[in-house]
Amino acid sequence: MENKPKVTLITGADKGIGFETAMALAKAGQQVWLGSRSQNRAKQAVDKIRQAGYHAEGLVLDVTKQSEIDRAEQLISEKIGYLDILINNAGIALDNHEAAATLPIDVMQKEFDVNFFGTVRMIQAFIPLLTNAKSAKIINISSNMGSLGLASDKNSRFYQVSSLGYQASKAAVNVATITFAKELEDTGITVNSVNPGWTATSFGGRDLNQPVPQGMQSVDEGAAQIIKLATDADNQLNGAFTENVGYLPW
Ligand SMILES: NC(=O)c1ccc[n+]([C@@H]2O[C@H](COP(=O)([O-])OP(=O)(O)OC[C@H]3O[C@@H](n4cnc5c(N)ncnc54)[C@H](OP(=O)(O)O)[C@@H]3O)[C@@H](O)[C@H]2O)c1
Repeated sequence: MENKPKVTLITGADKGIGFETAMALAKAGQQVWLGSRSQNRAKQAVDKIRQAGYHAEGLVLDVTKQSEIDRAEQLISEKIGYLDILINNAGIALDNHEAAATLPIDVMQKEFDVNFFGTVRMIQAFIPLLTNAKSAKIINISSNMGSLGLASDKNSRFYQVSSLGYQASKAAVNVATITFAKELEDTGITVNSVNPGWTATSFGGRDLNQPVPQGMQSVDEGAAQIIKLATDADNQLNGAFTENVGYLPW
């Protein structure tokens, strides 16, 4: 397997941080599979990477649909037989700054279905292919909004933040990171959480035509730590929660 390209699957990769990461990893020589809920948008994203001269493949993949996850696993299994890197990037935020007292349960359930259960479904389905790779990685895209340490720290700006469904779903992603990091330790698969930071994508319904507010990062800054981990040849970091500037409290 030494001379084979690294094979990487990214969920929610047709735009935003996922696409930025896909382009960078394809440029770095990885064989990148882009997941998208839409065949058309998957194709458009793949075309952009191919037009830039790099290799990419597209997949229809909604992380709330087990049948689509199973089909993706079967396809990569038949075509490649292993997976080096799984990046669980697909995410939604529906409850920005609504009071927890009146936040509808079904809104939080939708967030959990994509952010937490989507991540866990993907990991469960792809463990066999990741195990087939020499030194595999799972990178879960979390958020500083999911840090219990920051949310409970009176000196942190996150102390004032209230987005119960999104925050809890990303805190749950972090628990998945810790749990799988321990459970998979003997397989050579590492599992880490990354916080992209506040980034100028259309996340949460942001209009891309609006001016970028002060303090919001560019998309390449948002993807930087994910790319750094995905291209880290040592693959020693395991069970950590990091961002561009270092470690975050769980
Ligand atoms: N942007 C930020 O400020 C920020 C900060 C911290 C963490 N994050 C995290 O970074 C990740 C990427 O966010 P982004 O900023 O790049 O947002 P984005 O531009 O909205 O991209 C999110 C991607 O996830 C996909 N997605 C949504 N539901 C899905 C599902 N059920 N199955 C598969 N894919 C699905 C979206 O596809 P559709 O277009 O089909 O919906 C889209 O491709 C998310 O996990 C987010 O929580 C973002």
